[in-house]
Amino acid sequence: MTQAQLTDVATLRSRARQNVENGAVTEGYDADRQEIIRLLNESLATELVCVLRYKRHYFMANGLKASVAADEFLEHATQEAEHADKLAERIVQLGGEPEFNPDLLSKNSHAQYVAGNTLKEMVYEDLVAERIAVDSYREIIQYIGDKDPTTRRIFEDILAQEEEHADDMADILQDL
Ligand SMILES: [Fe+2]
Ligand SMILES: [Fe+2]
Repeated sequence: MTQAQLTDVATLRSRARQNVENGAVTEGYDADRQEIIRLLNESLATELVCVLRYKRHYFMANGLKASVAADEFLEHATQEAEHADKLAERIVQLGGEPEFNPDLLSKNSHAQYVAGNTLKEMVYEDLVAERIAVDSYREIIQYIGDKDPTTRRIFEDILAQEEEHADDMADILQDL
């Protein structure tokens, strides 16, 4: 049996006492923290832009009496807001500051804010935005690799839900 190559306990214990003010960020943290925080903030902007777009679509679709689509828009808006919260929480854990400045959101976001005039346009734009999110989160996960398992898991959970969102929008688009 080959033994796992772990750090010995004495070293672990003394390392944990160094730079205690860094909280969850320990000496063993392998990733480029500033770069991870930057990616988290771009993703936070993406999520917040998606919340706004889905909210607009929810209220507009409600006016069009398109209740199935409206229900989906509202559910997605709520879930995008939860994604934003998870990202912001992680940014703070890593010693960064979550960017909520509205002037910077659409600039930093990967997905776009498209108002959409018809229901079909709204669903189409939401599908495009989800596909952008799916691709960018997948790339971020690949970039993180083994270097920051917690951030990676957060992105993996979000990615899985964005894929469901894209699927929901594709289904609705088919029936329009
Ligand atoms: Fe999201
Ligand atoms: Fe989404």
